[in-house]
Amino acid sequence: MRFVLGASLVAVASAYRDWSGIDTKWATHPDKTAAWYDEHADGRPPELAPAITTIAANKSSVVKLECVGCPFRVRKLHLEPEEWQEPPQDNSLLLNFTIDASSSRLLLNGRSIAPLAPMPFHINAFQVNANFSRDHMDKAVDYQLMDDSWNLGTKFGRFELQYEHTVVGTREPGKFWIQFDVTAILYTPELYAKNGSGYHELKREDQKLVQILLRETAEPHDLFMEEVQLVDRKDRAKPYKMECGRLAMARTVFKPLEWDHYGKIGTWSRAFYMLWSKTRDAFWDNFVFLPILVVLVPVIVLFRWMARKQREMAVPIEDDAEAALLDSEHEDAPPEYDDVSGCSNEDEKV
Ligand SMILES: *[C@@H]1O[C@H](CO)[C@@H](O)[C@H](O)[C@H]1NC(C)=O
Ligand SMILES: *[C@@H]1O[C@H](CO)[C@@H](O)[C@H](O)[C@H]1NC(C)=O
Ligand SMILES: *[C@@H]1O[C@H](CO)[C@@H](O)[C@H](O)[C@H]1NC(C)=O
Ligand SMILES: *[C@@H]1O[C@H](CO)[C@@H](O)[C@H](O)[C@H]1NC(C)=O
Repeated sequence: MRFVLGASLVAVASAYRDWSGIDTKWATHPDKTAAWYDEHADGRPPELAPAITTIAANKSSVVKLECVGCPFRVRKLHLEPEEWQEPPQDNSLLLNFTIDASSSRLLLNGRSIAPLAPMPFHINAFQVNANFSRDHMDKAVDYQLMDDSWNLGTKFGRFELQYEHTVVGTREPGKFWIQFDVTAILYTPELYAKNGSGYHELKREDQKLVQILLRETAEPHDLFMEEVQLVDRKDRAKPYKMECGRLAMARTVFKPLEWDHYGKIGTWSRAFYMLWSKTRDAFWDNFVFLPILVVLVPVIVLFRWMARKQREMAVPIEDDAEAALLDSEHEDAPPEYDDVSGCSNEDEKV
């Protein structure tokens, strides 16, 4: 019985993506060292992968972002416990920026970052050695290492990213910068316990960020990456000041440890959503729950009323009810990126 179950699971997994006949050793086995190349290849190590690899012009690029001073996860075959390398070797994160043809969105490792909506996304990235070779990069691209369909274990550690996402408007209509700054990498739960804060911050002065100049066309609706750059944080493209006095930019700081499935921890809208969805689940799971619901409904109504009160107090008095609503949601939702290339409507009327 167990065998049948195991066999059918394997069948399902292999139907999902067929790896037969594909050499995946580059992703699982240790690389040859510099000493090996000294001895066997006249000291000629393989060519290194470039920092930016263009997969399809204006549509898809893989960035190898150096993770300055980051800890390095050592993963070996056969389920040995993972460990941190001491001292850590230089390493980089692999970021796949691709424009999705069907939705005209810019995806990073499969998650939408332009627009960054409706909520900021949890984004993971593989960590590779800094001397990752061009040959291995080509294989990573051919076999789509950064695609959701990649379902093999690898020697590369994966980290969830904490990030700062900025949309910077330019004076040219339809053109704007997306700046993606990795501010920390999160430890996995097993390693988390050993290292208190749960994340490692990328605070070094020479840490770079990725900035992409996007061009959006209306007819037909499409998106192009005009430029993909790695720049020092201090050299990033700066916003200009719009006529209404605001800077043409919108920044979202995403700290995954402060968010869960329901929204940003500590905000009212998350409390509602959680209560609402738990109540709903419990209701469908068990009809006996009904009497409890009779008690819960007034509580929810009370909560809603209190939250509305709280919101009213939090926002400055403004004539435009819609503007007030937008402001009050700011804490949870990323800023509207559509606003960036101009001031919002109510400002223009003034
Ligand atoms: C790549 O870097 C690691 C760590 O610094 C080193 O041990 C290894 O020899 C290097 N490989 C090559 C081919 O230079
Ligand atoms: C990059 O992302 C796109 C969109 O998610 C995906 O189709 C593609 O396979 C990915 N490329 C790699 C090299 O993983
Ligand atoms: C984890 O914590 C230990 C002890 O607190 C420290 O020695 C080690 O450098 C830390 N490792 C990382 C990867 O932060
Ligand atoms: C495509 O990218 C090149 C640079 O890589 C740039 O010069 C060109 O303007 C881009 N084209 C479009 C349509 O964005």
